[in-house]
Amino acid sequence: MNHEVALIPGDGIGPEIVCAMRRVIEAAGVDITWRELQAGASVVDRYGTPLPDHVLDVIREVGVAIKGPITTPIGSGFRSVNVSLRRAFDLYACVRPCASMPGDGSRYRDVDVVIIRENTEDLYAGIEFEADDPAAQDVRETVKRDTGRVIPQDACISLKPISRTGSERIVRYAFEYARRCGRSKVTAVHKANIMKATDGLFMRVAREVAAEYPEIAFEDRIVDATCMGLVMHPEDFDVLVLPNLYGDIVSDLCAGLVGGLGMAPGANIGSSCAIFEATHGSAPDIAGKGIANPTAEILSGCMLLDHLGESDAAARIRSAVRATLADGACVTADVRRALTGSTSGAATTDEFTDAVISRL
Ligand code: NAI
Repeated sequence: MNHEVALIPGDGIGPEIVCAMRRVIEAAGVDITWRELQAGASVVDRYGTPLPDHVLDVIREVGVAIKGPITTPIGSGFRSVNVSLRRAFDLYACVRPCASMPGDGSRYRDVDVVIIRENTEDLYAGIEFEADDPAAQDVRETVKRDTGRVIPQDACISLKPISRTGSERIVRYAFEYARRCGRSKVTAVHKANIMKATDGLFMRVAREVAAEYPEIAFEDRIVDATCMGLVMHPEDFDVLVLPNLYGDIVSDLCAGLVGGLGMAPGANIGSSCAIFEATHGSAPDIAGKGIANPTAEILSGCMLLDHLGESDAAARIRSAVRATLADGACVTADVRRALTGSTSGAATTDEFTDAVISRL
């Protein structure tokens, strides 16, 4: 069966790893018509925006996309294209599995956790005011009037909206995921001891939803203690569900447990659209050198194939990646360094990709 998939190569290492992912999927014999689209800094001069309307139109039409990372200017400049895509298609669930593979270079063995991150709310909602914005002054006055607390005149302000609706749908997604994938426990992560309103709501809703899934164990934990627990005893965790910002941070931490960012795939899921992408960013420090690890993007491609009903091909690709890493003779510099302390003898992105394809 032919599938249509929107493809955004992105920037930095994006085009290199997206090319690897596409070669592997094609070598596995899956029939995909790729609708290639450009977004990010390179299109701003031409379209006046990093995310032109025609890109959104094609994704809306096709309903499924896979992308490479896109650079976001820090501190100023355009807002994140990644965040804009999640918002445009209401991709409320970010799913990031982190599972050990033999030869992944990690100090940990047998890690198998899945991060389910709320993708639309929280400090990531992007409701922010510069210190001299008149709206910031309105907020200061409202806060002073209603709480007696003074926000300094030179403070910028970010708002953290967390809704009952948003919390309920992400926690329910986590439990449904656990049920569908045969997982046995869900941990809701928060900081409700300090943020009693926002994180308190998230925690209370998680407890309510958990009661509907008696066959799945449930606990809630504070985010800082969760980080320590993940580093000391990752085997205590199974599925984690988190508000947006904690999910962002904890998913990088979990990537570190399974060999680093080059290993961690991801999916952004909404009710009518899904966009797949590696957890990592555009890695400007290694872009253009042909040395990026394409594993995270290839495994994101496997999640795409599962979504398209091509689970046999996905399983064959996962097994080829696993065998290539386990063999250890042809691995990229990040893995090589983790295994041996040196990048000497590391494979390029293309060599690793060829090794995976040869095992399909
Ligand atoms: P990053 O994830 O790009 O890089 C962090 C470190 O991990 C770097 O040392 C990099 O070389 C390494 N790394 C990442 N992916 C790798 C791979 N596949 N193989 C080998 N090494 C890899 O994070 P950073 O530097 O904070 O962000 C760079 C840019 O990417 C920023 O503009 C950021 O906003 C953007 N970004 C985009 C995302 C997306 O498109 N979904 C997600 C995260 C960041």
